[in-house]
Amino acid sequence: MIEGVPAHYGSGGDLAEKIAEGLRSAGKDLNELKAIDLSAVDEFHFRGREATLQLAEEMKLSEDARVLDIGSGLGGPARTLAEEYGCSVIGLDLTQSFCEVAVILSDWVNLAEWTDFQQGDATNLPFAENQFDAAMTIHVAMNIPAKDKMYQQARRIVKPGGIFAVYDILQGEGGELLFPVPWARNPSISHLATPDEMKMLLSGAGFKILGAHDSTHESLNWLEARTTHMAQSGPSPVITQILFGGDYLEMISNQICNLTERKIRTVSYICEA
Ligand SMILES: C[S@@+](CC[C@H](N)C(=O)[O-])C[C@H]1O[C@@H](n2cnc3c(N)ncnc32)[C@H](O)[C@@H]1O
Repeated sequence: MIEGVPAHYGSGGDLAEKIAEGLRSAGKDLNELKAIDLSAVDEFHFRGREATLQLAEEMKLSEDARVLDIGSGLGGPARTLAEEYGCSVIGLDLTQSFCEVAVILSDWVNLAEWTDFQQGDATNLPFAENQFDAAMTIHVAMNIPAKDKMYQQARRIVKPGGIFAVYDILQGEGGELLFPVPWARNPSISHLATPDEMKMLLSGAGFKILGAHDSTHESLNWLEARTTHMAQSGPSPVITQILFGGDYLEMISNQICNLTERKIRTVSYICEA
């Protein structure tokens, strides 16, 4: 059901214009934008920019590093790494329209020189082996049934000794999920691995797991704080709701339940190639 994935994410249309409108109504000057101004919409995962920065701390990044972001979405995590570490980041994503908008957003915040985005499939990466000093993937594998291929491909393109950082949503012990969720409106494109399966998949692809961190409680606290803030102050004009429209609020309330009842967990892994 891989074709269902771009249809799920990319159906919004005119995304760059919607983001620009939201920014203007939030009082932002588009000529003075910083990457952080986009983070409520382009860091499309639990705990947003803060989670990206935590992951990046473990990636041994330097200015001359070349990094691949697998499933880069609108490019927020790629821009955060480029801005904080001065490294070059290529983002690859299955959803063509997200890649196009990611290019536009990098241009808005003067990071086009350090980031580039292209359409492609995580299970068949269009790069030669050992091309990247590091790679990361944030909240992507939950749409991918062939996770063994995805991690084998990541291992192939990262130089030996380089870091592969993974931050994903896993299947918890609380049973079947409530849908819709932000990555799927029904189970047909949702494929969550358990923590035990993840360890086997990453080791099986040839990675050495250096560390793992379960952030499920932090994710729940973060989401509840955001929901409370939205209830008190109204939704920010530039949030992921722009991507989904009508059922966004149902997705958020399902996510709170899925986390509370441990139907899902958020876990990150730092691996060495
Ligand atoms: C929830 S978004 C996360 C985006 C980004 N990593 C972030 O954290 O902001 C999931 C992304 O994974 C992408 N994706 C899903 N399956 C993919 C695949 N097989 N190959 C590449 N990208 C994929 C989707 O198009 C979507 O942009």
